[in-house]
Amino acid sequence: MKKISILFFLLINILYSDIKNISQASGEEIFQSRCSACHGNKAHIYALGYSEIISGWSTRKLSFILRSYKDGIYGGSMSEVMQEQVADLNDHQIDELAIYINSLSN
Ligand code: HEC
Repeated sequence: MKKISILFFLLINILYSDIKNISQASGEEIFQSRCSACHGNKAHIYALGYSEIISGWSTRKLSFILRSYKDGIYGGSMSEVMQEQVADLNDHQIDELAIYINSLSN
């Protein structure tokens, strides 16, 4: 019984730290865990051979475009791919991402 409660305690801790990580993650953490697979770890790749290269874009342009994907009012023929990526991000996380991507240079 004691072992089970310890396991349970560990599980809750793991789940809780995951939740904490998502809401408190920095722009860098979100980018490297969620975006870099397609855009490259320096945002230097044409995502899926299709997007523009976004490293060094201004923070203003990045925030605006990420919000527009979220609202479903921007994009090319693959915009649905991006809508899914940003659907659960809040304004603060989008701004953090924009600052981080802007800091990456080609
Ligand atoms: C599954 C691959 C994939 C992932 C993961 C992904 N993207 Fe994209 N991204 C794309 C594609 C494909 C496009 C072009 C979509 C379109 O047709 O508008 C794109 C477009 C963009 C653009 C606009 C560039 C342009 O061509 O207009 C930005 C900015 C962007 N992504 C940022 C991000 C950020 C930030 C994340 C992480 C939260 C992310 N992407 C995750 C594939 C991806």
